[in-house]
Amino acid sequence: TTHTFSDAAEASKHIAERIASLIRERENQGKKTVLGLATGSSPLKVYDELIKLHQEEGLSFRNVITFNLDEYYPMSPDSIHSYVRFMKENLFDHIDILPHNTHIPKGDIPQEELYEYCKQYEEKIQEVGGIDIQLLGIGRSGHIGFNEPGSTAHSKTRLVTLDNVTRSDASSSFNGIENVPRRAITMGVGTILKAKQVCLMAWGYTKAHIVKAMIEGPVTDKVPASFLQQHEDCSAFLDTSGSQQLT
Ligand code: F6R
Repeated sequence: TTHTFSDAAEASKHIAERIASLIRERENQGKKTVLGLATGSSPLKVYDELIKLHQEEGLSFRNVITFNLDEYYPMSPDSIHSYVRFMKENLFDHIDILPHNTHIPKGDIPQEELYEYCKQYEEKIQEVGGIDIQLLGIGRSGHIGFNEPGSTAHSKTRLVTLDNVTRSDASSSFNGIENVPRRAITMGVGTILKAKQVCLMAWGYTKAHIVKAMIEGPVTDKVPASFLQQHEDCSAFLDTSGSQQLT
């Protein structure tokens, strides 16, 4: 289903409320909630809202477990460019989540341990009962997580090569495309499709074209986000400009 809002702020409030209700509902049943998290600009306002709900309404994250979609490779967790740093600054440092309940692919794992590490990342998600809500942005290449064109519906957590469009979109924050890592560790399309509920966000006219391809185009590995058409509980949250090319 597609939900269009006047702007990203309105849509983000909605998403944060949805997450908060699920956390509270599961907590009342004595259950933990497993969130799949994204980085980048799209989820920033959702994280702001969650922090506000924590500070002003006492929403607790002590029973929340998180798994992030991806991390650049190689990447030191201490680097200003790391997604570890991003998540701390934009969410984790401002809520009562227990650090051992947060998981982000290790960008400094030695290459010879990578295969086993990715397998374990998948297993950990399954051990805690699977992802309840997966938050996603979408790249202009059609990627979700860092599943670039060519990624199959059954792909799992693995090392991938980033598309040029993706590296060029990241170039300003890295001060030039030559500084953007060429690879990343990402959950697979298959990992994402296993989440019980998916919330994809796309704001602004630069995403309008790929949003149309994702929602109205054929299901194809040329647009990995199009695989979400096969998910039975997937919502696309759009702002007016993100939705402008939909028929
Ligand atoms: C980030 C991620 C990416 C981004 C996508 C959109 O963890 O997995 O798929 O969601 O590149 O990025 P923004 O939100 O910066 O436009």
